[in-house]
Amino acid sequence: MENLINLVNKLQRACTALGDFGEGSSLPTLWDALPTIAVVGGQSSGKSSVLESVVGKDFLPRGSGIVTRRPLVLQLHRIDEGREYAEFAHQPRKRFTDFAAVRKEISDETDRETGRTKQISSVPIYLSIYSPNVVNLTLVDLPGLTKVAVEGQSESIVQDIENMVRSYIEKPNCIILAVSPANQDLATSDAIKIAREVDPQGERTFGVLTKIDLMDKGTDAVDMLEGKSYKLKFPWIGVVNRSQADINKSVDMIAARRREREYFANTPEYRHLASRMGSEHLGKVLSKHLETVIKSRIPGLQSLINKTIIELETELSRLGKPIATDAGGKLYMIMEICRAFDQTFKEHLDGIRPGGDKV
Ligand code: GDP
Ligand code: NA
Ligand code: MG
Repeated sequence: MENLINLVNKLQRACTALGDFGEGSSLPTLWDALPTIAVVGGQSSGKSSVLESVVGKDFLPRGSGIVTRRPLVLQLHRIDEGREYAEFAHQPRKRFTDFAAVRKEISDETDRETGRTKQISSVPIYLSIYSPNVVNLTLVDLPGLTKVAVEGQSESIVQDIENMVRSYIEKPNCIILAVSPANQDLATSDAIKIAREVDPQGERTFGVLTKIDLMDKGTDAVDMLEGKSYKLKFPWIGVVNRSQADINKSVDMIAARRREREYFANTPEYRHLASRMGSEHLGKVLSKHLETVIKSRIPGLQSLINKTIIELETELSRLGKPIATDAGGKLYMIMEICRAFDQTFKEHLDGIRPGGDKV
């Protein structure tokens, strides 16, 4: 059975490729009905670092100041074997095997939309990574929340970023990855503040605590990690990303992950929590959760998809066959994906009908 997360990935990409489908179409509704995970937090809280650790690759522009200026929709696809590669939706036929070139392309593609400024744009960049070392997952990296506009930015930027972030996380199907640095008081966390607004009960928010290694001597993150400072439905996950000095020294991801594991295992305060800390654990938890959410939404998604198929069939017959136009080709592609989805749902339901939740 084709993995449910992969199908959701495809469907999301197809909806986007089609763009403006016209008034009253189900496609925008379909897009909103598909669960995604959005990463939110203050500027330099470590969002991009967390994403890189989950992927286990260096590929994101990172650093101080506003680096992430467009949403990056990152789709991870697990492959059984072979060399890992990346592909952008805006360059569908180009395979990147050099991840430094991926980073450069993200940054160039950001500039293409915004100019070489510090402005932001809400037009997403779509990036897929195929690798034996990733879990199936879709994550959206968003610009960091800030408090003041800097030189070269319009006065409205603080509000613009907040609105952009909110537009993603207010959707009930969005899973929020709220990134807060441990060396600041949780009460001042931008991530928690905005997550609480849209998800007051903490039912779809995962709290991630970064920079645990940078806390003041004599303090620790145990209360925060045990959910005693701020309670969420899911357990908090602490991570130790690479510092700027590590990045400058080109400490690689494998070494960084090993060091992160050792950090939690060897620090007396955190030893009892070690098995549920770290970026690898975070990746697994998110993938599992995403799959659970998708499964729980199957009935709703199925009827929406059937509606979309009917709509697409009507649209296609209106366009006439053979399908010559670009729009026709895209519609056809989406319909094929919807059908695959429908088939997977049926298989899934057949799978669980006899013995409870078997699949
Ligand atoms: P973003 O703006 O939220 O995407 O943050 P970045 O991921 O770009 O990180 C900002 C800076 O903080 C970089 O210099 C990172 O190296 C550093 N950083 C992020 N997480 C950690 C961490 O857990 N420990 C340490 N020591 N530095 C970190
Ligand atoms: Na930054
Ligand atoms: Mg960033």
